[in-house]
Amino acid sequence: MKISISLLLAMVILVVIAINSGVYNIAATEKHWAITEKIITWVRVSSIATRAKDLQVPTLNDSSMLLTGAEHYEAMCTNCHLTPGQEPTELAAGLYPQAPVFHRRTPITNKENRLEQAKEYFWVIKNGLKMTAMPAWGLTHDDETVWAMVAFVQKLAGMTSNEYAEFTSVRNKIHNHNHDHNGNHHHD
Ligand code: HEC
Repeated sequence: MKISISLLLAMVILVVIAINSGVYNIAATEKHWAITEKIITWVRVSSIATRAKDLQVPTLNDSSMLLTGAEHYEAMCTNCHLTPGQEPTELAAGLYPQAPVFHRRTPITNKENRLEQAKEYFWVIKNGLKMTAMPAWGLTHDDETVWAMVAFVQKLAGMTSNEYAEFTSVRNKIHNHNHDHNGNHHHD
């Protein structure tokens, strides 16, 4: 008993010395060990699944909702998550962990799994992910807007650059083309 306590103490002291010496390389260019990577993924997946499981998912295929989502995606997400046809930005290239590229994902067709993914996307977009570059957008956006982003991010799976351009151009028409009461329209 006495031996194991002094052994424990010696280990704690060694860990303190190691941390204090700066031997751990915290650079984003220094990849995790495979085992560390596995543990981080395990923590992330379990944490998100537990916190997201009781969320109520609204209807996500509403077209005005998708346009709201597209508008926010274009304004706030493309630097890291890119758009169909876009080369990685300098910002995206330097991220560790890397931001997932949603348009390269395969759309989930199974209804249950799609709902699960929507809940998890919602939780991550609203709360962000600690020690990654993923910000918490829920501090500045209400739940309705976050769901609109979820709808669009799911829609992005498999999206072509033409389809993406269509979303953006419809959005621009709505935004720049206000009709007045005489039926004339003007740009703002
Ligand atoms: C500064 C870079 C950055 C910006 C801007 C950013 N993200 Fe992220 N995002 C990340 C990174 C990095 C990850 C992956 C973190 C990880 O691997 O744990 C991530 C993860 C995610 C995930 C989880 C993906 C999954 O597979 O579970 C979602 C959803 C997401 N982001 C949506 C968004 C949306 C929507 C926006 C815009 C409103 C946005 N992100 C803006 C960097 C960013």
